Amino acid sequence: MDQTEDRKFLKKFSSIIVGFIILTAVLIVLALSMKGEPDPNANPSQAIMTEERIKPVAAVRVGEEGAAALAQAQEAAAPAAANDGPVDGEKVYNGLCVSCHGAGVAGAPIAHSEQMTQRLDEKGMDMLVNNAINGINVMPPRGGNPALTDEEIRASVEFMTKQL
Ligand code: HEC
Repeated sequence: MDQTEDRKFLKKFSSIIVGFIILTAVLIVLALSMKGEPDPNANPSQAIMTEERIKPVAAVRVGEEGAAALAQAQEAAAPAAANDGPVDGEKVYNGLCVSCHGAGVAGAPIAHSEQMTQRLDEKGMDMLVNNAINGINVMPPRGGNPALTDEEIRASVEFMTKQL
């Protein structure tokens, strides 16, 4: 190998290195442009549901105002605890399913909408109830509350699929 060949090699080699440096710069710019800002139009119910999940499990109530609020809360909790009256699909829906099926969170079919009646037409009531009990894709089994009975799930699905 004489000197001219060495020089030729170095020239080629350094141009390859320069090529790689340019490629790296392009990839960095590309990555930065893909990062983006958080979408201000993101689903607002997501934030509400997150708040709901991370809120404290209990609150301290004091004084007269506190006693009144406590009585109100106990009254509100009583029917849910009793849970032995006739099965009320609307109540089950409003207690749980509405959190996703009200606004269509995560692609949930919106209750009472055409999205829901279309599924009913395509799959039939038994299959919808079955999928609500066992879960389907993002839809959690029994909407995430394993205490709900098959009867309650069926009633809430019947309520959801009804056109109001
Ligand atoms: C955490 C959100 C969430 C909750 C809570 C929830 N669902 Fe869903 N549900 C979904 C999503 C998402 C889908 C769409 C699943 C799919 O088809 O990919 C769905 C689909 C359904 C379907 C259609 C199933 C099918 O076969 O097409 C029914 C029926 C249903 N849910 C009933 C209920 C009932 C009843 C409750 C309350 C007991 C409930 N859901 C609570 C998210 C939820």
